[in-house]
Formats: sequence, C-alpha cells, structure tokens
Amino acid sequence: MEKMQVLGLALILLYMVTTPAYCQYYSQTVPYESLQEKTTNLHFFFHDTLSGKNPSAVLVARPNITKDDKSIAPFGSIFAIDDPLTVGPELTSEVIGKAQGLYVSSSQDVPSLVAYFDFGFTSGEFNGSSISVFSRNPIADTERELAVVGGRGKFRMARGFAQLKTYFLDKTTGDAIVEYNVTVIHY
Ligand SMILES: *[C@@H]1O[C@H](CO)[C@@H](O)[C@H](O)[C@H]1NC(C)=O
Ligand SMILES: *[C@@H]1O[C@H](CO)[C@@H](O)[C@H](O)[C@H]1NC(C)=O
Ligand SMILES: *[C@@H]1O[C@H](CO)[C@@H](O)[C@H](O)[C@H]1NC(C)=O
Repeated sequence: MEKMQVLGLALILLYMVTTPAYCQYYSQTVPYESLQEKTTNLHFFFHDTLSGKNPSAVLVARPNITKDDKSIAPFGSIFAIDDPLTVGPELTSEVIGKAQGLYVSSSQDVPSLVAYFDFGFTSGEFNGSSISVFSRNPIADTERELAVVGGRGKFRMARGFAQLKTYFLDKTTGDAIVEYNVTVIHY
C-alpha cells in the first residue's frame, strides 16, 4: 500500500516537472529580427451586388432619421459583404477569392464609405491567405486608393495599398464591379 502511494506521488511530481505551465502568464521580449521582405502585386475584379435574389452585399442597419432619404446608402448605413473576386470583369470568370466584411456610409456630403474588408484568396500561391483593408473609400472618384493594414498566412505582417478603378456602376441598384491593383509588402 505504502509503495503504491510513493509511486503515485512520484508520478504526480514527474507530471508536474514535465508538463509546461499553460496557466501561467508569459511574456518574452527579444530584439526584432527583420526578415527579407517581398512585394506582391495582385490584380482582380471585385463584384459588389446589392440587387437580385442573391445579393453579395446586404444592408444591415441604417439610422431611422434617414427614412425619407431614398439614396442607396444614406449616411450611417452599414452593409455586410461576401463579394466574389474574379480574374476578369465578368462575374462568370474564374473566382480567386472573396472579400468579406463591412462598409459604412460615412460622409454627410459626397457618397463615401469606410471599408473594413478581409480579402481571402482561394486559389493559386495565396490560397488560404488574406489581406486586411481598413480604409476610407471615396466611391464618387472613379480612381481611388485603399490602405492595406495587415494580413494572414503568406501575407502575415502585410502592409500596402490597393488602387481601384470603377469598371461598372449601376446608379439605381448600387451594383458595382471594381478593378483592383494591390501592392503588398510582406514576409
Ligand atoms: C428614431 O428612433 C428613436 C429611438 O427609438 C426615436 O426616439 C425617434 O423618434 C425615431 N426617429 C424617427 C425619425 O423615426
Ligand atoms: C485551396 O486550399 C484548400 C484548403 O487547403 C483546398 O481544399 C483547395 O483545394 C485549394 N484550392 C486550390 C485551387 O488550390
Ligand atoms: C493596374 O495595373 C495595370 C498595369 O500596370 C494597369 O494597366 C491598370 O490600369 C491598373 N489598374 C488600376 C485599377 O490601377
């Protein structure tokens, strides 16, 4: 009986020494090791469809004080998107990823949005990786720029910019096709 207790205690002690203490607060600071950075250019088309039975952009909320405003995105409206990214300007061309996130109509005078997007790629070298965009998007300008503030996977620690050109816009429905040229600096 005593032997069993000693053995039990020994096993508990062994367990305690060999098991990392996951429940402890942990912090370690080391000098920053800068790795070789690369630049990647990406080109694709973004399809933001508000109309039809299967829209890829949906209105989530809008302030009730704009209820008489008949525009598509009155000040303060929030849209959620799951927009396909394609190789060519046609929606039928090959899909290489999806842009998911939100945009908020953020200007009281000219139509302008603030975009909170994650562009996730599902094909080629960057399959499974994504880039994060957080930026003002002055949609009234045909050519504009968005800031790339981060990324995941192969785009970890990314930063850069996206140059946008409106390829198609239906002013009645808000449906848009936008050409993107993204320059990303990443590891
Ligand atoms: C908007 O909603 C608030 C809170 O429910 C209400 O007090 C206000 O009267 C509404 N305004 C309009 C224009 O409907
Ligand atoms: C992308 O990655 C997923 C998950 O690893 C895989 O199932 C899929 O086949 C890949 N697609 C392409 C086009 O490589
Ligand atoms: C993207 O880059 C290509 C090649 O430099 C150029 O022809 C095209 O106009 C650019 N498009 C945008 C939206 O900047």
